[in-house]
This record gives sequence, structure tokens and C-alpha cells, in this order.
Amino acid sequence: MRIRDLCKEYQVAAKRIEVLKGLNLDVDNHGITVVLGRSGCGKTTLLRLAAGLEQADRGSVEMGSDAKMGVIFQEPRLMPWLTVGDNILFGTGKRQGRGRHRVLNRHLDYLLDLTGLKGFEDAYPSQLSGGMQQRAALARALAYKPDYLLMDEPFAALDYFTRSQMQKELLKIHQAEQKGILFVTHSIDEALTIGKKVVILEDGGCRKEYDLGDIPYPRDLLSEKIGKIKKGIVEEMEKTGEIGMLP
Ligand SMILES: Nc1ncnc2c1ncn2[C@@H]1O[C@H](COP(=O)(O)OP(=O)(O)O)[C@@H](O)[C@H]1O
Ligand SMILES: [Mg+2]
Repeated sequence: MRIRDLCKEYQVAAKRIEVLKGLNLDVDNHGITVVLGRSGCGKTTLLRLAAGLEQADRGSVEMGSDAKMGVIFQEPRLMPWLTVGDNILFGTGKRQGRGRHRVLNRHLDYLLDLTGLKGFEDAYPSQLSGGMQQRAALARALAYKPDYLLMDEPFAALDYFTRSQMQKELLKIHQAEQKGILFVTHSIDEALTIGKKVVILEDGGCRKEYDLGDIPYPRDLLSEKIGKIKKGIVEEMEKTGEIGMLP
């Protein structure tokens, strides 16, 4: 996926906010690309534009003409009246539950297994923990067989241990599925845990890029190599002004 010269501004009351000012980004179709930035820097805006949920003022998001995208938001956004299984199948447009489609059933079994939801197919979202709900959302996005997964701080609402577990599971799922993932977060540690490439979004563009392609998973965040990169990122991000101080 190639994002070129992406511009987006919003009018809020009498004020015009330029959120993205000619952003360029290449998203690898097999690796995890992490966009890291402070709250309010435009991460969600970037993801919504990439997903086609909103129109850019200028610029383009290019990928194969039949490339499909699955989006995962910060909240699971499951249908509360549907079971986990039916939620997962929802995006496929074939919501008949089990029995009719053998291939679909097999895919559902695979997804339940992959996301650790085996045995919860008939549960309702309200009966699941936050982490499990987010796994169901991930399974639902995968059911649609997307080429890219766009993830908007999907683990930000989870407690530290669940979040860390989910990051590990995402890596496992990524290993199995090999999708291109565009993941946005404000957490430096999360970026260093999962990113093949980490890009800092500030002042409306991708300002700095870190290639972590040669550091294997699972990552040891306390290693000297990652410590050095983290120091660089912290220094870079500290240079930026306070939230809401964008010109
Ligand atoms: N629909 C909208 N209308 C007006 N302003 C918006 C809208 N969406 C986002 N913004 C503004 O754009 C800026 C970036 O928002 P957002 O992309 O949500 O940031 P992030 O996800 O990095 O926290 C914020 O200042 C926000 O108030
Ligand atoms: Mg956001």
C-alpha cells in the first residue's frame, strides 16, 4: 500500500485544523507497519482515510485494485445480539450460522482456533472479557480474508497484561496469516514489540522511520539494541509540542 501526499483538514467551529499535511507512507504487504504518535496527531484520521471510511482532501492511497481491507477499532464493535460465531461470519455476508457452508464452517473453526476462542462460538459478546471481544473483532476482520489489516489502537483499552498477551497473539496470527498490517498506537513499547517498521507521525506527516526488520520476534524490550532505538524515539517525540499545539 502506498500512501502519497495525503492531506486532510477539519473545520471545528471557527477553526480550521490541518490534520494531515502531505503524508507519505509505504505499508509492506507482509510486515507490520506501526504508526506511532501522540494523542490527537491524526492516527485515526490516517487509518480512516486508508480504509476509505473518509475522503482525503488531496493525495492517494494506492494498492492493488482488488485489495481488501479489514479494520479493527479501539472498541470491538461487535453486534451484542449475535453470538461470537455469527459476529465473526457477519462480514462474509453469509450469516446462517453453521450447517450450510462446509468451507465457511472450516474457516470459522480455523479462526476460532487462531484467535483462542474455541468453545466460545455460541457465547454473546457481553459474556466475554475485553481481550476476548477484541479477539472476536480480529477474527471477524480475518473472516473477510483481507489483504491488509488496519488496526486503530486495538489494545489501548486493555489492562497491561492482557495487552501484552494480545500483542503476542497478534504476532502469532501475523505469522500464520502474513497480512500487511497497518497498526497505529501512541505506545512506544507496543510499537517496538510488534513493528517491523515504526514511523513517527507528527505535524501532519511521517517524520521519522525506524527499520526493525532485523530484530526477530519475540522482542526483548530491555535489550541494548531496542533500548537505543527507544531512546531515539523518545527524544524525537519529546521535541514535539504539547497536544493541540499544532500550528
Ligand atoms: N470528524 C472530525 N471533525 C473535526 N475534527 C476532527 C474530526 N476527526 C478528527 N478531528 C481532529 O483531528 C485531529 C486528529 O484526530 P485523530 O485523527 O482522531 O487523532 P489521534 O487518533 O492521533 O488521536 C484532532 O485535533 C481531532 O480533534
Ligand atoms: Mg485515535
